[in-house]
Amino acid sequence: MSSSTDIAVSLGERSYTVKVGSGLLDEAGQHMAPLLRQKRVIVVTDANVAGLHLARLDAALDRAGITHQAIVLPPGEHTKSFEHLQQLTGDLLDRGIERGTMLVALGGGVIGDLAGFAAAVLLRGIDFIQVPTTLLAQVDSSVGGKTAIDMPQGKNLVGAFHQPRLVLADVDVLQTLPRREVLAGYAEVAKYGLINDPAFFQWLEANGEAIANGDSAARRHAVATSCRAKAAIVAADEKEQGDRALLNLGHTFAHALETETGYGPDLLHGEAVAAGMALAFDLSVRLDLCPAADAARVRRHLRAVGLPAGLGDIKAPRGQHGWNTRGLLAHMSKDKKVRDGKVTFILARGIGKAFIAPGIDLALVEAVLQDAAVA
Ligand SMILES: NC(=O)c1ccc[n+]([C@@H]2O[C@H](COP(=O)([O-])OP(=O)(O)OC[C@H]3O[C@@H](n4cnc5c(N)ncnc54)[C@H](O)[C@@H]3O)[C@@H](O)[C@H]2O)c1
Ligand SMILES: [Zn+2]
Repeated sequence: MSSSTDIAVSLGERSYTVKVGSGLLDEAGQHMAPLLRQKRVIVVTDANVAGLHLARLDAALDRAGITHQAIVLPPGEHTKSFEHLQQLTGDLLDRGIERGTMLVALGGGVIGDLAGFAAAVLLRGIDFIQVPTTLLAQVDSSVGGKTAIDMPQGKNLVGAFHQPRLVLADVDVLQTLPRREVLAGYAEVAKYGLINDPAFFQWLEANGEAIANGDSAARRHAVATSCRAKAAIVAADEKEQGDRALLNLGHTFAHALETETGYGPDLLHGEAVAAGMALAFDLSVRLDLCPAADAARVRRHLRAVGLPAGLGDIKAPRGQHGWNTRGLLAHMSKDKKVRDGKVTFILARGIGKAFIAPGIDLALVEAVLQDAAVA
């Protein structure tokens, strides 16, 4: 049996384990079996992941004597829609699911969010297991119980908190993930160092390249450390009444960049988060909260692994010569956290010292964006 690191997400009766390791997909059946009320699971996945990894999961379930069926959805953010939710829940009902049937989400954040939401609402809630296959899903979306679909009005606007019963993060499956997707997930890994773990950030400065290049031991450490950080934050604030908002470091800027690029393929979420974290440090420096050397170190590291860390590093939206800072500001002022032209940001007093800062004046943010367009 392979070795794995077990991380507990402590939420009373909704507690569960996040297993991080190599070879976990081949052992999935034995890890799932104790949690099953019926020896039957339905796997929800996307066509890319099905082609690469479904056969191994099927074989593992067979070995454990677990009956299984798979539902394969198209890959991409568009799948996180009402239409696909309707189709998926209908398909699951047609297959005769019961309260005791376990759903298994095998895929990235899109599959995890959609299948998790389907599990939250079907028959008023059935159990599900996350088997995340992207770095982003392993370090972020599979842990914490946020599930959702997108609406024409915006991303993640219809959803529910529904915790999984188990998360199996097998770093081996990341070997087939395109490098650009690995780096996008890496931005969220770096985020945990920047929030409250300066020693981890320092470790990333030495090992970021190895993680990007596929080093399994480095990836295991990075995923386990990230999941431990997320588990601690979620256990303290499951429904984001307080400190869970720290996980939004870089995200107010990121969402504005993503809105401006229309959530298209030119800018992945993690890429927007990388640039957004660099901008959040710039804003912290401008407010005299953070040493300029720390912001420079953040930018240097993100660029060293190949992530964008300034507006100049990202292609401006199609048909535009440069970034429209006014447009970006307009998106931020529509953010649900705005009051009287003041926005809540996650800022930092240094690397590993993030905090929630309400009441930040958008004029200062504009100045930071203008500087970043040339930085
Ligand atoms: N619930 C949360 O807390 C939370 C947190 C962060 C992000 N999210 C959501 O997660 C989604 C993004 O997730 P994502 O980045 O994983 O995107 P994704 O699920 O679209 O996966 C990215 C691409 O990689 C492919 N893929 C997945 N695993 C693979 C593998 N092992 N090998 C090769 N290709 C593989 C997918 O088919 C897809 O084309 C967004 O919808 C976002 O809103 C949710
Ligand atoms: Zn994110």
